[in-house]
Amino acid sequence: MTKYLIIGKNGQLGTEFVRQLTKNNFDFVAFDHHQLDVSDTYKIVELIEQIKPEIVINTSAYNQVDLAEKNYNLAYKTNGLGVNNLVFACKKYNSLIIHYSTDYVFDGKKDLGLYEENDLVNPLNEYGKSKYLGETFLDNYSNSLLFRTSWVFGEGLQNFIYKFLQWTKNNNTLKVSFNEISIPTSTKTIVDLTFRAIDSGLNGKFHLTNSGCCSRYEYAKYILKISNLSNIIEPVDIASFNLPAKRPGFSAMSNQKLSKELNYLIPEWSDVVKDYLSS
Ligand SMILES: NC(=O)c1ccc[n+]([C@@H]2O[C@H](COP(=O)([O-])OP(=O)(O)OC[C@H]3O[C@@H](n4cnc5c(N)ncnc54)[C@H](OP(=O)(O)O)[C@@H]3O)[C@@H](O)[C@H]2O)c1
Repeated sequence: MTKYLIIGKNGQLGTEFVRQLTKNNFDFVAFDHHQLDVSDTYKIVELIEQIKPEIVINTSAYNQVDLAEKNYNLAYKTNGLGVNNLVFACKKYNSLIIHYSTDYVFDGKKDLGLYEENDLVNPLNEYGKSKYLGETFLDNYSNSLLFRTSWVFGEGLQNFIYKFLQWTKNNNTLKVSFNEISIPTSTKTIVDLTFRAIDSGLNGKFHLTNSGCCSRYEYAKYILKISNLSNIIEPVDIASFNLPAKRPGFSAMSNQKLSKELNYLIPEWSDVVKDYLSS
């Protein structure tokens, strides 16, 4: 039986992996941040030696986009050095490394169409740069799968749906940006497609998102509609928030490469958001 190691088990994606691996009686070990810091080279090597996993799924990340402008050290240690540690430790056993990156590696200036895997990256903020650094370490390791994803939501408090629904409780009118466009992606879709990719023996870099795309404003309006809420949403320019980290305006990524490889039609973002809000 294949042995899995899950890193970052208490995050949104880690939680969904643990749920699915448990449900399907897989052989796995999972660690949270406290038990295993991905930037701790010695500990990573020691644990990989001990567990000898065939598949390592790294769901850990420093994801605080605005705080990363100040705490860039922590972002680079987790999102960059952490991946290098995994490559270093996994080489000996040729374990498959599965890692996740972000649409924030792009600058949003693409003229036509959704971002594809080989489009030029040009991250605008420290978070995006640290995630891109992690990607480059995986380039040196062929037994790996790199999935770029966007606007992830699942069980947990670090996602737009949760935060937005909290805001609706105290504010009748809410300002949401109209000029941030990407693709809400559910952890259920990510886990499902990751297992399909493992079963198909895929290697390399793929965009893993739900299908379709929307602005943050359209996303918020849809959440209100499905939740039967009557708050008012005012579309505003993201620049009006004066956020510390710059964000790409348009960072929607095409999932066509993955969809074709897996011969599978990836669900629309609106359908998975509806399922999530109805469950
Ligand atoms: N969330 C998004 O919208 C989004 C968008 C694009 C890409 N992604 C990528 O998708 C992946 C999964 O994201 P997610 O939403 O599941 O993230 P998440 O909910 O923020 O979970 C990340 C987990 O990593 C842990 N962690 C942080 N630093 C660590 C370290 N040094 N060592 C070990 N664990 C550490 C965190 O623990 P603590 O909380 O205890 O620190 C947390 O449990 C990440 O690679 C992320 O960059 C996410």
